[in-house]
Amino acid sequence: MARKKIIAGNWKMNKTPSEAKELAALLAPLVNNPDVDVVYCVPAIDIVPVAEAIRGTNVQLGAENLSDQNSGAFTGEISADMLLDAGVKYVIIGHSERRQYYHEDDAFLNRKVLKALEKGLIPILCCGETLEQREAGVTLDWISLQIKSDLQGVTAEQVAGMVIAYEPIWAIGTGRTATSDQAEEVCAAIRRTIAEIYDAGTAEKVRIQYGGSMNAGNCKELLAKPDIDGGLIGGAALKEEFGRIVNYNK
Ligand code: PGA
Repeated sequence: MARKKIIAGNWKMNKTPSEAKELAALLAPLVNNPDVDVVYCVPAIDIVPVAEAIRGTNVQLGAENLSDQNSGAFTGEISADMLLDAGVKYVIIGHSERRQYYHEDDAFLNRKVLKALEKGLIPILCCGETLEQREAGVTLDWISLQIKSDLQGVTAEQVAGMVIAYEPIWAIGTGRTATSDQAEEVCAAIRRTIAEIYDAGTAEKVRIQYGGSMNAGNCKELLAKPDIDGGLIGGAALKEEFGRIVNYNK
């Protein structure tokens, strides 16, 4: 069965609750494409107002982070149960900004992946190389190591329902997109890694997104590649342009 495309906006640390509500409502009629799963991953404080704004639309809700713990004395953290109760279905885990600025390492991210799956959230697990790693020719080895570390203890059935986002760090927010061939090379390698850890059938099911300066101009070519099943969109997810990305096939 063909994999359904999944286009997710990563709003990052943008939009106050009232601005978020406005943006969600503005975008809702523009992102109505039944061929695509559409997700807004929004700041924690925006989850409740955005859930309200997208009620009755095809848009699904995502969070940008979650705690690896269930509940209790973890000041400032947000649990999977809280997210689920607010209507969240997806959660971004291991974005390079969290790895880099908040020192989230693979062991910690692995616990978050396991927690999300245990609770019934769908992880959007991010991986990606730096420019130095790309230039040193170690991209595929690095990505494979990240994936293997972050998926420790995850079953084949669980991984089949997950989303993996390949986001070269040098392409995030820089306007410098990976070429469609560069993106496809790594997305195909991620699928091979999944086949290696699990089996070919599982690898065929997992959805792999590309992220990094994806926009209305380059999305069509990227999404035409056989191993690119969607996009994780930063900057362009905050504008009407997001609707043109979701409708890339029209
Ligand atoms: P960008 O961000 O589209 O602004 O490059 C993508 C991301 O970080 O998820």
